[in-house]
Amino acid sequence: MATEPKQVSGEELDHDLAELLEIERFEPPAEFRERALLNDPAVYEEAARDPRAWWAKQAAELDWFEPWDTVLDDSEAPFYKWFTGGKLNVSYNCLDRHVLAGRGERVAYHWRGEEGQERDITYAELLAEVKRFASALKDQGVKKGDVVGIYLPMIPEVVVAMLACARIGAPHNVVFGGFSAEAVRERMEFSEAKALITVDGAARKGKTAPVKERVDEVMGDLATLQKIIVVRSKDVPCEMRAGRDVYYDEICAAADPECEAEPLDAEHPLYILYTSGSTAKPKGILHTTGGYLTGVSATHRYVFDLKPESDVYWCAADVGWVTGHSYIVYGPLANGATSVMWEGAPDYPNRGIWWEIVEHYGVTILYCAPTAIRACIKWGADWPNGHDLSSLRLLGTVGEPINPKAWLWYHKVIGSEQCPIVDTWWQTETGAIMITPLPGITATKPGSATQPFPGVAAQVLAESSGEPLEEGQGLLVLNGPWPSMLRTLYKEPERYIETYFKRFGSETYLVGDAARRDKDGYFWVIGRIDDVVNVSGHRLSTAEVESAIVAHPDVAEAAVIGQHDEDTGQAIVAFVTLQGDLEGDEHTVEGIRATVAERIGKFARPKRMIWTDDLPKTRSGKIMRRLLRDIAEGRALGDVTTLRDPAVMSQLEDRVKEMQAQED
Ligand code: WTA
Repeated sequence: MATEPKQVSGEELDHDLAELLEIERFEPPAEFRERALLNDPAVYEEAARDPRAWWAKQAAELDWFEPWDTVLDDSEAPFYKWFTGGKLNVSYNCLDRHVLAGRGERVAYHWRGEEGQERDITYAELLAEVKRFASALKDQGVKKGDVVGIYLPMIPEVVVAMLACARIGAPHNVVFGGFSAEAVRERMEFSEAKALITVDGAARKGKTAPVKERVDEVMGDLATLQKIIVVRSKDVPCEMRAGRDVYYDEICAAADPECEAEPLDAEHPLYILYTSGSTAKPKGILHTTGGYLTGVSATHRYVFDLKPESDVYWCAADVGWVTGHSYIVYGPLANGATSVMWEGAPDYPNRGIWWEIVEHYGVTILYCAPTAIRACIKWGADWPNGHDLSSLRLLGTVGEPINPKAWLWYHKVIGSEQCPIVDTWWQTETGAIMITPLPGITATKPGSATQPFPGVAAQVLAESSGEPLEEGQGLLVLNGPWPSMLRTLYKEPERYIETYFKRFGSETYLVGDAARRDKDGYFWVIGRIDDVVNVSGHRLSTAEVESAIVAHPDVAEAAVIGQHDEDTGQAIVAFVTLQGDLEGDEHTVEGIRATVAERIGKFARPKRMIWTDDLPKTRSGKIMRRLLRDIAEGRALGDVTTLRDPAVMSQLEDRVKEMQAQED
């Protein structure tokens, strides 16, 4: 049954936007509120009165092999421990307990391949595969505590691999498939991974990328890496190094189909996920077992109002980012949800593929990034309007602030004005959603993530004094520990303290975002305060990109900033000084972009490159990125008197103007 197409033109949208900004608040629809799992605001008071008791209640929803003795051990703060003494297993909670309770026939994932292939995987099937692969990992010499790298595309085996690691207590280190092999190597080296699970080839919009071949080019001499396990997904011939490389299907076929879930301490490491910080070296965020699963399952249940018997839930992220870890894999499986998993891009085989998938599987809950919504706006409402989206009842966003126009389009064109929108703010470090509406309780305001989740406390502190602000803009902090928080930076405990707890002490987690609170106490997250840029919801450090650019032989020096971008939220702009008298041309631009793609990944390539004879530096030689940002955004320049050579700025201003004129 097709719904009436609702065409929305750009002009209409602008008109509606003006009205929308006057409405200001959107109450949950009465019908939604009535049926919601949580619809009484008293839940916030209950949690605030005794956060430990509230979190213990959430933890009790999981199956524990042994109960905990202490909810929170803060004796070594900020190295917090949750549910100490307790033992559990994440894969048991995600699979076995559902199968034991008779829910084995429920679909865990409706998997859909790029070319339309379909595979429904039930909980019972997933459990059987996970057990086999867990046995196979053991056969390959992987033991509890060994780090296992995972570099896989969006195929079911990525979930199997993660859960098999969790089953035997081997922390995984997943690297997003869009990262280059060199970036994978670096992450394997930092974490001293013993094995890497990868694939012969990956589907990329109708083409096949030869993944194993690329991995071989860089991984050869990494002594710590003893095994490479290759999933045969796309029939790409691979060179297999004897003694090191094995095929996934072959080791699974030879493995014991039984593998009991290992009872693990609540604080046993579940995974490391590298993310960008202020320096070129990525930070290894470490998450553990009991607290993490408590946080992701509770937030997944309540933020998405999950009814596992009837909902079809789709988080359209990639498993390689934290959103995928928490809300494609661990949260949904712990809650026994039926999810959709889509292998490909939002515009292949055509720009309507997302909406075709929603219609086909009857998706009820959709969770995606504002960047994707902006792309859909550009492609036009005809694509979604060509499909029946009436199954949808709740929409979510994550990864970056959502601009009101995108919010409105999501609300009208996708949600037919019937679906609450949950704008969820959180980070790799927080493990789970921290600031978010509860869809049956909270009145939303487009662009605001609204209020901390029950049991979470947040504040905005004045930049100068560090005093909490009732209203106004400053630094976002989270007060006190929460169960799914990172435990440390892997192998860098000093950096953990320095980055998050040095400024305000071990009770106050410094987020790294600027935020505003309005007269109603709502939180509006503005963006990063450090040298981290957010391109299409992908987190990148300017230092990381700079160091990739200077690896190009023609480059002497580079400074990178994030510039506001209508499509991607932020775009990377690089100011580059070449060696000697070299002149930059198209060829150099392509060369530098290729170097960045090779070192980090295609998504990190600069959108604009501006040649300059020098960069604005202080007398002590520090690059003043603030001035570069001012120039790029066309703002009046701030104080330039501290510059070593103020003349640099006028040359740069001219160059930026030239470039903008060319683009127009
Ligand atoms: C930004 C992604 C505004 C923020 C889950 C944060 C957001 C960084 C939102 C974390 C949101 C995430 N509104 N900004 N709803 N969600 N951010 O680690 O700057 O990849 O610090 O985790 O994304 O990015 P990360």
